[in-house]
Amino acid sequence: MNIREITDGILYAGVNDRVTDRFEALWPLPYGVSYNSYIVRGTEKTALIDTVEIGTLPDYLGQVREAIGDAGVDYIVVNHMEPDHSGALPFMLEVYPQARIVGNRQTLGMVKGFYHVADDRLLEVADGATLPLGGKTLRFFLTPMVHWPETMMTYVEEDLVLFSGDAFGTFGALNGGVVDAEMDTAWYRDEMYRYYSNIVGKYGRFVEKALAKLAGIDINFICSTHGPVWHDHIDEVIEIYGKLARYESEPGVTIIYGSMYGNTAEVAEEIGRQLSARGVRNIRIHNASHDNMSDMISDAFRYEGLIVGAPTYSMHIFPPVEQFMIAMETREVKNKVTATFGSFTWASGAAAKINEYLAAMKAEPVYTMTMKQSIDSSVKEEIARLAEAVVGNLKVTPHS
Ligand code: FEO
Repeated sequence: MNIREITDGILYAGVNDRVTDRFEALWPLPYGVSYNSYIVRGTEKTALIDTVEIGTLPDYLGQVREAIGDAGVDYIVVNHMEPDHSGALPFMLEVYPQARIVGNRQTLGMVKGFYHVADDRLLEVADGATLPLGGKTLRFFLTPMVHWPETMMTYVEEDLVLFSGDAFGTFGALNGGVVDAEMDTAWYRDEMYRYYSNIVGKYGRFVEKALAKLAGIDINFICSTHGPVWHDHIDEVIEIYGKLARYESEPGVTIIYGSMYGNTAEVAEEIGRQLSARGVRNIRIHNASHDNMSDMISDAFRYEGLIVGAPTYSMHIFPPVEQFMIAMETREVKNKVTATFGSFTWASGAAAKINEYLAAMKAEPVYTMTMKQSIDSSVKEEIARLAEAVVGNLKVTPHS
């Protein structure tokens, strides 16, 4: 059981999932994931804040019952309708027949669409509206597109507790502790980058709007739908989210390549060596045929430089690298120092097509090179020029 009091009358009731292989059937979960739900107990009313993914319903229901005993649930606040949080909703409505679902207009439309809930079980709230529970007042902030159009956040005014939906969430199940003060959070930071870039990454400008909306309120706890409850590290996670929303990078360079027989891989390795020789100390090289898309997207989001290379494959980009470029374009990745390398045997094509993606992203490369068949001294000179051009444009990455 994961029941844990966060502050007086506000409890964590989330569950760990260490079984599902891929979140959204896409993103690997090597350390699992938590679906966080919370209970807010006023003197007159009790509210659940979000529920959990349907496969974890038995654990979840056991926890809610342990926390509130025979007391009823009056409201189920739906900050976010994605089924990893709403899957258990129709069953909770059966268990607690007096409970009403609280959401904004978009939320309630989705509740009806997904779960066919009758109107008399729904309570619509607007941006800034409040809902008294007796000694605890819920205030609702609409924060669309963080991560779906209906997403909102709920704030307990008396306790300065913010239920933030997916925002500030991380992959990784909880390992005993629930609040950040109870754990070493260092490794969750990587999982926060991965979660943001994989799931929320396309919606940076909406995240910025949401952060601006929250700027005027005091926050003592951030209760996200995934990962730790933030208390000691609130400033840090808000700063990370702000940087990610603005597509600001950390020092470092990511190299993504594809290679069928090792020739393009040699170019990638040599680029790494040339960057290292110029003092770049944080270099991440990914083989797109081997490494996971989730990690590649995360590193590309996180670090300042992005160098992409691929063989020409039937006059197109070698497919695993094209998949990566589609992921970049989809997420509208900005503010990167980019460069491109392509290879070919009889007709060149990959580099130019990678550059079409970069142009669509308004991330034109500072250097483009191509290699016919295999590496030699003239290719190495080209690689040196590419490295020089990249390093010369880096602003936050230390180099010599
Ligand atoms: Fe954790 Fe967008 O759902």
